[in-house]
Amino acid sequence: MPDNNNVARPTDSNELTSYAVFGNPIAHSLSPAIHAAFAQQTQQPIRYDKKCIELPRFESAVHQFFNSGGGGLNVTVPFKQRAFAMATVLSDAAAQAGAVNTLYCQNDELHGDNTDGAGLCRDLTNNLHWPVAGKRLLVLGAGGAVSGVLAPLIASCPSSLVIANRTHAKAVVLQEQFAADAELASVALSTNNFAELEGDFDIVINGTSASLAGDRPDISAAIVNHARCYDMVYGSSPTPFLQWAAQQGARSIADGLGMLVEQAAESFTLWRGVRPQAAPVIDRIRSSL
Ligand code: ATR
Repeated sequence: MPDNNNVARPTDSNELTSYAVFGNPIAHSLSPAIHAAFAQQTQQPIRYDKKCIELPRFESAVHQFFNSGGGGLNVTVPFKQRAFAMATVLSDAAAQAGAVNTLYCQNDELHGDNTDGAGLCRDLTNNLHWPVAGKRLLVLGAGGAVSGVLAPLIASCPSSLVIANRTHAKAVVLQEQFAADAELASVALSTNNFAELEGDFDIVINGTSASLAGDRPDISAAIVNHARCYDMVYGSSPTPFLQWAAQQGARSIADGLGMLVEQAAESFTLWRGVRPQAAPVIDRIRSSL
């Protein structure tokens, strides 16, 4: 990987360089609009496309993209684990997540990173001003979306982090996987299922896919009362979880649009060596939803 030698990140290049997001489905991806806004803001000469990749063709499409001079790829559902398997060099975040959302080639190596967790943490702290350090965190869900963000959340040093899932056994698997990180950061890591969940939390993060089906995690109202509630899903109106949390007296609510833009900003920074400002792009994309 790849056929041509030493494809490097074109950070100093004034040549128009191609980037893309690969997924299936991909029609509703906002990534091209986000990266176009970053390119305009930072005066970087890039084009960014979305490509729907047939399931068996993912690996060959990645090879083809980089062999024809592509600068970098974002990878989304359902290919993040396959991108992880393809990468010859993994960042710590990708290794911990077991999934890759950002690919680029450097010195004949295919580098895989995962910017989802960093994107979430930057949105919480920089945009929303919800500090995580020293706070009691509850993360709902134990699927791919949650495993992708746990390490950066733990590294942000909450005082405690509870992973709760409808199916408790899956939360336990994640607890075992991230126990060493939590010990290192002195974070009290524990698990529960929704039915038995109780306690006081400062920040509740919905990382389940329930909102995508118009549903919400079935937890008690006392959990969200006075908490700051975040949904990793976003939309033109508050998700079912956020609507419900607001009705129960949540201190504040926010959806995952900021995380989406911030994870894109992390990818852009890796590829171009220039960090775009996410906040104006969040506002611009929000007004177009
Ligand atoms: P993703 O990549 O979005 O995380 P996933 O790996 O399939 O998708 O995981 C989906 C997560 O959302 C799981 O934690 C799932 O709970 P279960 O493990 O019990 O299946 C959770 N989930 C999906 N729909 C839900 C709902 N209606 N209520 C609560 N949790 C739900």
